[in-house]
Amino acid sequence: MTKTILINKANRIKDSYYKKTNFISTKDILNDEVLVEEETYKAYLELEKFLQSKNIIIGINSAYRSEEYQQQIYEDFCIKYGKEYADKIVAPVGTSEHHTGLAIDLALKINNEFIEDTQELEKCNHIFEEIHKYLEDFGFILRYPKDKENITGYPYEPWHIRYVGKFVAKIIAEKKYTLEEYLKEYSGIILVNKEKGMTSFDVVNEISHLFGIKRVGHTGTLDPLAEGVLLVAIGKATKVVELLTATYKEYIATVKLGIKTDTLDITGKVIATKEIPFLDSLEEVLSSFKKTYMQEVPIYSAVKVNGKKLYEYARNNEIVELPKKEVTIKNIELLDKTLDSFRFKALVSKGCYIRSLINDIGQCLNTYATMTSLTRTKQGSISIDKTNKLKEIKEGIYKIYEIDETLDIKTIVVTDEQCKKIYSGQKLPNIWNIDDKVIFKSKDNRLLGIYEQVDNELKVWKNFV
Ligand code: DAL
Ligand code: ZN
Repeated sequence: MTKTILINKANRIKDSYYKKTNFISTKDILNDEVLVEEETYKAYLELEKFLQSKNIIIGINSAYRSEEYQQQIYEDFCIKYGKEYADKIVAPVGTSEHHTGLAIDLALKINNEFIEDTQELEKCNHIFEEIHKYLEDFGFILRYPKDKENITGYPYEPWHIRYVGKFVAKIIAEKKYTLEEYLKEYSGIILVNKEKGMTSFDVVNEISHLFGIKRVGHTGTLDPLAEGVLLVAIGKATKVVELLTATYKEYIATVKLGIKTDTLDITGKVIATKEIPFLDSLEEVLSSFKKTYMQEVPIYSAVKVNGKKLYEYARNNEIVELPKKEVTIKNIELLDKTLDSFRFKALVSKGCYIRSLINDIGQCLNTYATMTSLTRTKQGSISIDKTNKLKEIKEGIYKIYEIDETLDIKTIVVTDEQCKKIYSGQKLPNIWNIDDKVIFKSKDNRLLGIYEQVDNELKVWKNFV
């Protein structure tokens, strides 16, 4: 169950939701049974207790509603307040957030009596405003804020709170978003320090789950053995992932000498051993790799030959000629060494396999060399000291970068007229003498798109509008 599920007039609840959701049975202010989603209920109890300490007594007016119950509420409202008010405030059956059990309508206890009537509750707005200040600390948002009716479909409902979890509630409160806006607009690049043992895909999944956003992608896969800089794009930023990979990367690797494994790293099976010579020439050998050369792609890689991944050939013991790719080692430097191992730092071009580089270095040293650890310390201009571990990100320690902050591409703020052209995907004259790509932003700092120079005109490459 994703806590950011969007239910509104355009998004109906699906039956599958209930298979993944646990409900807790409790009592509403009239002592009738009411169901609330499990995590939501725990958070509600904490909120209730906290507000009590501030002399505000809340109760549950309404939480989970079945479709039949929503229909009954609509009919009751029609009788009590008239059809016009009912249509305005009660969601059509199947489109109410109350079907999720994540929404609670609060009642207030005033002079020892619970007020449940919505029109009476509207008069207690000052108390609700006090409550709203603390919602995010308990993982709730005010789902139908003032002046957002055009987005949410409902007028201000001070009593209707919605559980999304503390992590998302904090962002929504800070950005003054509605849930609709959060899911549509929230985007950027998170600089993750991937830990050993996780696949890059695991990181993407965790980030997607944490933010409750489906559109998440990463750049430059790191194997489970590797750690370090992994750029994760959220929302619209996933559109520029390919630009983020097209850069130089810096790594620190540790090498064990005298053994060869099938995967070229320590996770593989040892397939050969060889004596280790004295390492007097190590620095010289390393600096001889400061060049552009044709590097053989490792067999344990996802590179395809005749439509089949190389590691599939390896698993089936099939012979295959390994393709070669041009790589550039811009810089390489020895950090330290022992009699049978060493550590180095290298700045390499896109597509370079450090495992293969190590294997090639081994050959020059007249022994075997296997990678035992790998840390990506830089990707383009992003260095590891700017990244955060998943654990930190979960605690809210991270920064989300705008696309233009992570790309080495010129940004131009356009006039309203140019903005209109970009909105309709039109070409622009190249008055800025752009050679390659350019990021366009509006005066109010919104990302509009990335354009590309073709025949001295600027054509849309990616549109964000
Ligand atoms: N009053 C809210 C919109 C509902 O009926 O779900
Ligand atoms: Zn409600």
